[in-house]
Amino acid sequence: MTLSSTLTSAQAPALQARFESLTVDDLDAVIAVEQSVYGHPWTVGNFKDALASGYAAQRLLAGNTLIGYFVAMKVIDEVHLLNITVSLQHRSQGWAKLMLEALALWARGQGCTWLWLEVRESNHRAIHVYRSHGFKQVGLRKDYYPVGRGLREAALVMSHKL
Ligand SMILES: CC(C)(COP(=O)(O)OP(=O)(O)OC[C@H]1O[C@@H](n2cnc3c(N)ncnc32)[C@H](O)[C@@H]1OP(=O)(O)O)[C@@H](O)C(=O)NCCC(=O)NCCS
Repeated sequence: MTLSSTLTSAQAPALQARFESLTVDDLDAVIAVEQSVYGHPWTVGNFKDALASGYAAQRLLAGNTLIGYFVAMKVIDEVHLLNITVSLQHRSQGWAKLMLEALALWARGQGCTWLWLEVRESNHRAIHVYRSHGFKQVGLRKDYYPVGRGLREAALVMSHKL
């Protein structure tokens, strides 16, 4: 996937961003963001496996600064969003919305008709972003995610018809 135009988000019009493919060489910066935002972050191995499997993986940059990234897996005519993350400094500036738009554009170009994802039921910010983008809840996976101290929480399964 190559998305080379310079982009801005409506909420951060002064910041010029661009997409670049995420490669193993970029993982130090990605892991730093990953560990700063998730209680249960992906490991280097998770990212390496995803890249080795040929999943779509893009990072969003402003200059050399990593704004965010996403990883998605195409399965026949569906795309499963596996990871979408915006760094703490760049939250609430519309960058997740922009990445979802880029993902949908790429998925349509691949002839896909559905986007799918799972999200922790406590992740109200992400659920809000997904709903705003047209995702609807289609299922609930009980005890899907670890939350620590042996406890688990449910995942909302959401889909979006392209
Ligand atoms: C979820 C995430 C990707 C959103 O990124 P973002 O760039 O801040 O998202 P946007 O700026 O595009 O949109 C933020 C929206 O969430 C809303 N929001 C912020 N905090 C919220 C909360 N606690 N509850 C509900 N909505 C909230 C904002 O008002 C905004 O909505 P609006 O555009 O309708 O005003 C980012 O917060 C993140 O990386 N979180 C940690 C990783 C994660 O949870 N990833 C998703 C895993 S499924």
